[in-house]
Amino acid sequence: MGIIEELSSLVQDALARIPDAADEESLRQISSSSVSPKGFIADFLKKIKEIPAEERRDFGQSVNAAKQQLENAIASRLAEIKQAASSKKDYLDITLEGAPALCGRLHPTTQALRRICDIFVSMGFEVVDGPEIEDEYHNFDALNIPPHHPARDDVDTFYLHGDVILRTHTSPVQIRTMERIEKDEDLLIRIISPGVTYRRDRPDRTHTPVFSQVEGLMVGNGIKLTHMAGVIESFAREFFGPQINIRLRPDFFPFVEPGGEIAVTCPICGGKGCPTCKKTGWVEIMGCGMVHPSVLERQGIPPAKYQGFAFGMGVERITQMLFQVEDSRWFFENDIRFLSQF
Ligand code: PHE
Repeated sequence: MGIIEELSSLVQDALARIPDAADEESLRQISSSSVSPKGFIADFLKKIKEIPAEERRDFGQSVNAAKQQLENAIASRLAEIKQAASSKKDYLDITLEGAPALCGRLHPTTQALRRICDIFVSMGFEVVDGPEIEDEYHNFDALNIPPHHPARDDVDTFYLHGDVILRTHTSPVQIRTMERIEKDEDLLIRIISPGVTYRRDRPDRTHTPVFSQVEGLMVGNGIKLTHMAGVIESFAREFFGPQINIRLRPDFFPFVEPGGEIAVTCPICGGKGCPTCKKTGWVEIMGCGMVHPSVLERQGIPPAKYQGFAFGMGVERITQMLFQVEDSRWFFENDIRFLSQF
């Protein structure tokens, strides 16, 4: 067999093995035995000295062409192997079970808030919104709390700048509602206003610097304290159950006269006495009272003709009782283990 035939048989042999190389390692072996400095192509190039001078040129060309052919075949097989490996990585097994999707739900405070609103709406109250960023006038002055009135010390206010503050209660919505409505003959206000309020309280089991309130206001001709008691009692029985009683005791708020505080039969122990009600059988849920005549007057509503009542309840406190939650800070921590229980 001539030297060219010998070369061509080795090349054919290598070319035949290349498509069967299953991975980079087998391909590397073929490459090392053929085109590498230790491969047969290099051996043939060394043999060039043994070739008669007039044939050297053709011989050299044949060896180089063979080398080129092998290198091309190896490179294209390598590309195929790499491509196969990477498409394996992207392979999507649609029969695999997916990661379970967590189902969201309403926050317990939101659930309680919605129930509160539904009950008052069923009694003819309208739900209105008010700004969380307030001015001192609506949060204090218009509610009979003048600049140096001690009632301003009761709450620690977040001041933003100048007289702009974060509202400390939802009562400014009373003022904004009285400002807004038409003061005609058949004036009748029945609103509730749920929302977030802010006080510089150190967080503990029953206090958080951010909390929610629902304000209520009813103003009209001949509205009396008994209307207030009736509305609040209906609400409490609808919300906590028909066995609930309410207790109204005097309390002081500058914007109501008389002012009161409402407690309900402890929904946890039914009034027998337990740690939640501190063994009294009652839990306070809101402040209330008849709208102070000077508050009405300041808004252009003549107190001789129109009277009204207002109340404001702490939503987290009520939610704590509804769901028997010990610590109100948990409402704000967004711990999925807590939230998924409701
Ligand atoms: N705004 C009072 C508070 O935050 C509650 C209240 C509202 C009292 C309406 C009387 C009437 O404590």
